Amino acid sequence: MALKSRPILDMNAFNAASDGCCDPLLDRRLKNCGAASVLYYRRPIEMVRAQGVWMEAADGSQYLDFYNNVSSVGHCHPQVVSAISAQAAQLNTNTRYLDRRVESYLERLKATLPTELSNVVMCCTGSEANDLALRIAIKATGRSGVIVTETAYHGNTLAVMEISPASYKQGEPSEHVHTIPAPSRVAYGNDIEVGFAQAVERAAQTLKRRGHPPAVFICDSIFSSDGVFTNPTKFLAGAVAAARNAGSLYIADEVQPGFARTGDTFWGFERHGVIPDIVTMGKPMGNGFPMAALVTHPELLAIFCRDVGYFNTFAGNALAAAAGMAVLDVIESEGLQQNATRVGAHLLARLGKIVTDDPRVVEVRGAGLFLGIDLCQPDDPGSPNPALAAELINALRDRHVLIGATGCYGQTLKVRPPLCLTTTEADLFVDALSDSLAVT
Ligand SMILES: Cc1ncc(COP(=O)(O)O)c(C=O)c1O
Repeated sequence: MALKSRPILDMNAFNAASDGCCDPLLDRRLKNCGAASVLYYRRPIEMVRAQGVWMEAADGSQYLDFYNNVSSVGHCHPQVVSAISAQAAQLNTNTRYLDRRVESYLERLKATLPTELSNVVMCCTGSEANDLALRIAIKATGRSGVIVTETAYHGNTLAVMEISPASYKQGEPSEHVHTIPAPSRVAYGNDIEVGFAQAVERAAQTLKRRGHPPAVFICDSIFSSDGVFTNPTKFLAGAVAAARNAGSLYIADEVQPGFARTGDTFWGFERHGVIPDIVTMGKPMGNGFPMAALVTHPELLAIFCRDVGYFNTFAGNALAAAAGMAVLDVIESEGLQQNATRVGAHLLARLGKIVTDDPRVVEVRGAGLFLGIDLCQPDDPGSPNPALAAELINALRDRHVLIGATGCYGQTLKVRPPLCLTTTEADLFVDALSDSLAVT
């Protein structure tokens, strides 16, 4: 039977119709949030506190968090918590006053980025940052077309949802959006750079024929919702050149790979040796404090601001600056980028042994502390096995290890622990995965 692609929010999710509801708190959640309630696992967990890579449930049990890149420097990191509480006790208002703490933060953030991207617009969510990036690119190019990967997710506003095929439950992309397969070997064979670049070229021609020449080629630099595609490094270069040849700008969505997660570089696009026209970022930026940003060339922002102003009440106020600065401090002082490289390599090596031993585990790939583990049918490495992924995720949950799924069908285990992970904690995960595979 042909597999159907699965919307990202349905993966690894509680489903009231099939999972049933026998918990009073769950019942309250469903009554309060209705159809928009999205919860992890067949048996959702009530979490009450967390520290480092560990989360504690209401019954006192501890869960190893291998799924969370919001609390990227570790849950409730004391330095981030104290920076936020000190600032909240001193000044917390809108963004229309001068504030030297904010400027210091923006300068510190810019120091991590290519020098030509010297203007920052602060936002509160990744969706907001991508929405604004689209608006800037459309204005600057005078065009409307967008090239995205088939299972991309870029957020939840009206415009950004349209370029997030992973969130469609039905229907096709609008006329101005053209999707291309994610940069996998399955789609493009061994020369991913050339195949992916040609796909961008063809997409640009199709959009032109439809009367929507491309304004934007946008991709998540680690393709997290497409299934995690990281290697070979530099494979994005051809696609970016093809997009620019067709008159398009290139937006790097760093919401997932940014802030040192990939280990070898601070930003995901750096692994590919490309410089984006616009970079967007979010999730780990405030370690749980809701903040995001867009960084771009002053000229592009000036074109956009000629016709329409941009103001954001909360984004980039002193509180956000305090949280963001503490996150950058912790990444540096605790060597978290280096830790992601070291512990990520250990994890990859140990998971490689599982690939050798179990015919249902077909490939492990990734960079730093963001890995994807592909599952297939036991007798057919080419057939994705989303059912096994769902069983394993719930089996691991019962062993108190939290992970998620990704990929077009939900056939890839998504492994994304906080950056402070130790090798001992990495081993706990690998052992729990081996034990779960043995009984699944
Ligand atoms: C790659 C990517 N871009 C953008 C977003 C949207 O960010 P937010 O949920 O903060 O709006 C997400 C969220 O999952 C994401 O994964």
